[in-house]
Amino acid sequence: MSLNWISRADRLSALPPYVFARLDELKARAREQGLDLIDLGMGNPDGSAPQPVIEAAIAALSNPQNHGYPPFEGTANFRHAITSWYQRRYNVDLDPDSEALPLLGSKEGLTHLSLAYVNPGDLVLVPSPAYPAHFRGPLIAGGKIHPLILKPERDWIIDVSAIPEEVARQAKILYFNYPNNPTTATAPREFFEEIVAFARHYEIMLVHDLCYAELAFDGYQPTSLLEIPGAKEIGVEFHTLSKTYNMAGWRVGFVVGNSDIIQGLRTLKTNLDYGIFAAIQTAAQTALELPDVYVHKVQERYTKRRDFLINGLAELGWNIPPSKATMYLWVPTPVGVSSTDFALYVLQNTGVVVTPGNAFGEGGEGYLRVSLIAECDRLGEALRRFKGAGISYQSEALVYPGS
Ligand SMILES: Cc1ncc(COP(=O)(O)O)c(C=O)c1O
Repeated sequence: MSLNWISRADRLSALPPYVFARLDELKARAREQGLDLIDLGMGNPDGSAPQPVIEAAIAALSNPQNHGYPPFEGTANFRHAITSWYQRRYNVDLDPDSEALPLLGSKEGLTHLSLAYVNPGDLVLVPSPAYPAHFRGPLIAGGKIHPLILKPERDWIIDVSAIPEEVARQAKILYFNYPNNPTTATAPREFFEEIVAFARHYEIMLVHDLCYAELAFDGYQPTSLLEIPGAKEIGVEFHTLSKTYNMAGWRVGFVVGNSDIIQGLRTLKTNLDYGIFAAIQTAAQTALELPDVYVHKVQERYTKRRDFLINGLAELGWNIPPSKATMYLWVPTPVGVSSTDFALYVLQNTGVVVTPGNAFGEGGEGYLRVSLIAECDRLGEALRRFKGAGISYQSEALVYPGS
């Protein structure tokens, strides 16, 4: 029954529709029609968390001490595992008490950070395209977004020099993410140095999302913001266990960096949640302490899928340079066909679910994001269906829904 005498808060109506929720509806309808869906839509890794992580969780579950409320600031063991991991991976020293905070997944922290720092009307710089929490968090807080449009000719790297002076002066926060979802771009260390200098000059809080820290291929090692001298004075970096360790459903991530910034988020969260189930924190600690060979296997899995799909799409006319990181391909739509029209056409004619690039903002128009979350046999089946439906990069002749 609809309650028409209750109106929702303005902060909800400020939000553009969540495309993943819309895709879910379309998927449900396609399933009802009996289509065998190949879902390459979300960044939801297939398969299970590593066995030692599961075993650590089971053991922790059997300990009644873990059954009460966890500490607000996360368990000391998990926080120490986070800072040791940072030391090992990036040679960066962090204080586990003030410079590391466990989160109920990084999406939670990325969004709540805006609630902790953005007042209505505050200006937030967010690339377009971007992972939706980077602009939805500021919008929920009533902030104004200044989009930094990413361009293929700049390899999808933010052009700091194109930010107008008055915008830079007003801006309070800049969210960014390399290796990048959805474009798969990686940024050189010099870019990180440039953005740190920019943020320090204009006194802007830098929020770097290093979600794909470990999903890097061909020997590439992503840069951590905190490796850059001076970054910790103005910035924080978010991580997740969802992708590397197939723990998306466990809801665990963390933020590290500037202690003042983290304290604001901690204060907000103390009022909102009780933190992560302690057994999951034990499991997450185990994941961070796994030998590197585990991560290498994950990297090999995604490299194989990346190459398989790139080669298959090449036969259909697409020329997609191999990404050095992430779990996606960023695929241009055929000339003149919008992202949404093409994604709908693909779903309706092949049962393959992909995400239209404009779900990540206007800068993603003209592209699709394809998640590498199925084994090569299923990816091969997706390619066969594309071929069967006459879908190719040059297939302007097809009639797409909006054309
Ligand atoms: C860039 C980026 N940040 C954060 C997240 C969310 O991760 P979590 O599962 O930790 O909330 C995702 C998930 O796709 C992502 O792509």
